[in-house]
Amino acid sequence: MVDHIADGVKKYAEWSSPVKNDKFTAAVFYSSAYGYTKALANAMKDGVEEVGGVCELFDAAENDMEEMAEKFTAADAVFVGSPTLNRNAVKPIWELLAHIDAVENNKKPVAVFGSYGWSGEACEQLSSHMKLMKMAVYEKPYKCIFKPSAEQLEEAKQYAAEFVKSVMGE
Ligand SMILES: Cc1cc2nc3c(=O)[nH]c(=O)nc-3n(C[C@H](O)[C@H](O)[C@H](O)COP(=O)(O)O)c2cc1C
Repeated sequence: MVDHIADGVKKYAEWSSPVKNDKFTAAVFYSSAYGYTKALANAMKDGVEEVGGVCELFDAAENDMEEMAEKFTAADAVFVGSPTLNRNAVKPIWELLAHIDAVENNKKPVAVFGSYGWSGEACEQLSSHMKLMKMAVYEKPYKCIFKPSAEQLEEAKQYAAEFVKSVMGE
């Protein structure tokens, strides 16, 4: 009986410890109605690669939820991007988060980003939600109003690089 409890505690500790891949692996999940959050997602990927990480990109509206949840769990760091529509983050991103196991993603380093038009609630909503899931949400989300300029895309790339370096402990 005591052994079962000890085994259970050990397994829980394993499941709730952050992942460490041999090569630093990030995954970017986004949804985008008009392509602006998608442009930021590509810049985030470039930022990860700039500091030597590997990065996969997933449009949450076009990929299988279970498959994305596995990629989310297996990544050393994750990016989550959504525009603000109707004062909310968009459904494919909420749906993805509903597929994520909170225990397996305990302390998962996550950065949030998105394009918005005026009120821009999505990033803060997603950040709060993932903090409640006990993930390690990066200080500030990266947000831009409507279409990101070339300078903003470069800024987004540097934001991603800084985030990854902070996770790598550099
Ligand atoms: C139907 C609709 C509702 C929107 N609602 C909001 C809103 O509540 N707050 C806001 O900041 N922007 C709002 N926007 C603006 C979008 O966030 C903005 O167009 C953004 O750049 C879209 O990013 P995307 O290209 O990644 O889809 C709305 C846009 C549309 C078309």
